[in-house]
Amino acid sequence: MAKITKIEAEARVAALKSELNTHNYNYYVLNNPSISDFEFDIMMQELQTLEKMFPELATADSPTQKVGSDLEKDDTEFVQVAHKYPMLSLGNTYSKGELVDFEQRIEKVVSSAHTFSCELKFDGTAICLTYRHGTLLRALTRGDGSKGDDVTRNVLNIKSIPTTLKGQNIPEEFEIRGEIFMPYKDFDRLNAEREEDEQPPFANPRNAASGSLKLLNSNQMRERGLDCVLYHILGERLPFKTHLEAIETAHSWGLPVSQYSKKADSIEEAVQYIDYWETQRKFLPFATDGIVIKVNELDIQRQLGFTAKSPRWATAYKFKPEQALTPLLSIDYQVGRTGAITPVANLSPVQLSGTVVKRASLHNKDQMDLLDIHIGDFVYVEKGGEIIPKITGVELSKRPANATVPHFPEVCPDCGATLVRDEDQAKHFCPNSDNCPTQIKSKFIHFISRKAMDILAGDATIDALYSKGYIRELPDLYRITPQMLLTLDGWQQKSADNFLESINKSKSVPYERVLYAIGIRHIGETNAKLLADHFKSIEALMSAPREELLQVDEIGDIMADSLISYFEREKNRNIIEQLKNFGLHFEVDENDGQHLSERLAGATIVISGNFSISRDEMKRLIAAHGGKNAGSVSGNTTYLLAGDKSGPEKMKKAERLGTKVISEDEFYKIIND
Ligand code: IVH
Repeated sequence: MAKITKIEAEARVAALKSELNTHNYNYYVLNNPSISDFEFDIMMQELQTLEKMFPELATADSPTQKVGSDLEKDDTEFVQVAHKYPMLSLGNTYSKGELVDFEQRIEKVVSSAHTFSCELKFDGTAICLTYRHGTLLRALTRGDGSKGDDVTRNVLNIKSIPTTLKGQNIPEEFEIRGEIFMPYKDFDRLNAEREEDEQPPFANPRNAASGSLKLLNSNQMRERGLDCVLYHILGERLPFKTHLEAIETAHSWGLPVSQYSKKADSIEEAVQYIDYWETQRKFLPFATDGIVIKVNELDIQRQLGFTAKSPRWATAYKFKPEQALTPLLSIDYQVGRTGAITPVANLSPVQLSGTVVKRASLHNKDQMDLLDIHIGDFVYVEKGGEIIPKITGVELSKRPANATVPHFPEVCPDCGATLVRDEDQAKHFCPNSDNCPTQIKSKFIHFISRKAMDILAGDATIDALYSKGYIRELPDLYRITPQMLLTLDGWQQKSADNFLESINKSKSVPYERVLYAIGIRHIGETNAKLLADHFKSIEALMSAPREELLQVDEIGDIMADSLISYFEREKNRNIIEQLKNFGLHFEVDENDGQHLSERLAGATIVISGNFSISRDEMKRLIAAHGGKNAGSVSGNTTYLLAGDKSGPEKMKKAERLGTKVISEDEFYKIIND
């Protein structure tokens, strides 16, 4: 580092501390980092160097001394619990050469022979599980390192985490720490859904994992496909000599551990492991951001101990994000279903992590200004697990003389309406939702999509129907005649019949999907289902006051506002009325639940009393397993399902007719058999 005076250092240290604290908050709490890990680590290194040069500037609250905190501010949902052992971070380096320094530091303290455990550094969110008497007692996030959020209920939705252990010699109580992560396939699926629902996509699988771990709705959490890998056991008098032995034993108890860890006898062997995974990691189905090297012998680990922030017996070699440098040819401004304008960069094709990249998202105007991007610039593209790669920087030294400043449009590129800016989302919108052709067509494309009305047609059909003037508002789809279809290029009787049959079939799509299909801003598939479960009909939803909307899990201010403004519009109410007249479902059909099995096929069941689930849910469950509900016991009744405080009359009648009476538990045994 160049020479620096104490006064200059003081100012720089203050600035770095404040910036690092902000980035820690963005990363750990908001799950929305604005800089890469690499940039963060560079700043952290600068701060460490300055604090070493001027020890009087090093304070206990410096980000170099604390781990970033994931504790929610003002959080009322999660109880915070103190960690039995502090939950620390790892020292890291981007240089293989510095790994030799790591070994030398070890050898200064201990003289006995040591080996290393080389492991993948899983890019997720840290978790600490406590098992007592072989049963999961508690799960805590890292929090601020000394206390974490209790997410026990949530981790029960992660299939790989066992609630009870199996096998021999399980300690009475121990902690095991690891990482909760989201495999790429689940991440891609989640982001595709979010983009479709106009929710901001997660920047990477790590943010998605940590955001999902703190979801309050367990069904929603289960669908996120989180996974877990455990890599560090702690406890009193544990019977292990080496780290790898401990991990192997944990595996034998049914705990998920990494299958990629390897013992190395020297730091050179550890570097070979790094070299291998530096290229091979792109074939892994989950994100990794480096390699962790740990001293394998637990007695040596104990001798080495910890600094305030990390163990001296382990370090992380971090991978630099893969980047490509390529010229920016032009920028398209795409209009989304609800009018959001997204700038998309057209790039000179370039190879990146095994695929050819031609397009990259620029997100919004702020992002373009921040990058000071010019057409003709050489730009850095990174993938980091996202579906669409992103532009992370501009190589100013390569800016050609004729590079031009792009002009963010003031009017919609499709319909010419003056754009408006939504400050909350830092996005520009075309406000002409009723007449902008792209928006109208996108509404139809969304409406017919598989997860919505599942109508057999593609974008080209919607385009053709729109061009002919046959469709402007959603109910127009149900007015299409065979004659109209036969005027479309290449359409014949057979294709017209298939299309109309599919339109007809869509009338039996359940309410929750219709609610999703009508395309209320911010109401995606999951939220539509939650709303349909809560408000059983569109009338109930339309007349619900804001406070009641907010009572539904996961429905926040933005969604509540969006619902209210949608239903306030006469035009939308009219569309719903017309769709209803065409026979679409706008209320929950109790008999139309999910189909789970045929285990109750042919059985008629009468329910009586209270159960651990609501009576409505019980009826739905019976129907979902192929059974029939009946109100009173008769000769046709197969079972009387008797809950708490079941009616004595029904019981007496069942006894008289010899009807089998079953308890709630027995019922579950039958359906889960
Ligand atoms: S060992 C006392 N092993 O990386 C520290 N950590 O950047 C024990 N991580 O806080 C951590 N994979 O959340 C360890 N194989 C692995 C890891 C790993 C990912 C995470 C962990 C740690 C962070 C440090």
